[in-house]
Amino acid sequence: MTYEIKPLPCNPCAIAGLSEKIIVSHYENNYSGAVKRLNAIEDQLALMDWSAASVFAINGLKREQMLAMNSMLLHEAFFDSLGASQADFDLAAQINKDFGCQDTWAAQFAAMGKALGGGSGWVLLAWSPRDGKLVNTWAADHTGNLAGATPLLALDMYEHSYHMDFGAKAGAYVDAYMNNLNLATASAKLTHAKGA
Ligand SMILES: [Fe+2]
Repeated sequence: MTYEIKPLPCNPCAIAGLSEKIIVSHYENNYSGAVKRLNAIEDQLALMDWSAASVFAINGLKREQMLAMNSMLLHEAFFDSLGASQADFDLAAQINKDFGCQDTWAAQFAAMGKALGGGSGWVLLAWSPRDGKLVNTWAADHTGNLAGATPLLALDMYEHSYHMDFGAKAGAYVDAYMNNLNLATASAKLTHAKGA
């Protein structure tokens, strides 16, 4: 199948503290690039002779497929996360149950992002159906995610997310991101995940 590039879900001119230029660059280069790379990998996989292929060819392509597929999905979750809005009753109650209060959750989430500054990776607020709880998860690359969990919010800590606006000040980028949380979309994702 061919993976489609989804439209940008947020208004890049309306994200306080993040420039239109960096959001559009991120969308056009990094997100769109991941989808195009995934499609090229899928083409290669379709041509592979699985009975004759070397283990390093299989390992290499399947690894790259995983990286590109999760890069696509996590970038979609990242852009969904932008656009300041309020949590609905259920998300607010779930955050209170699992973290004590929204400020405590936000402090933990932001601290995890700042801890990745200078490196790269992702911080996610994820719904884990195994235990029926929210978890802030850490990843050093696109593949490190909690099995079975649904990302509700995604913070991209790769340098391309902030360097154009903030230079090396990753913490200032995390603060700007936290001021733009689209908790209404996260609420809808939680409702869907619980229903599923
Ligand atoms: Fe990114």
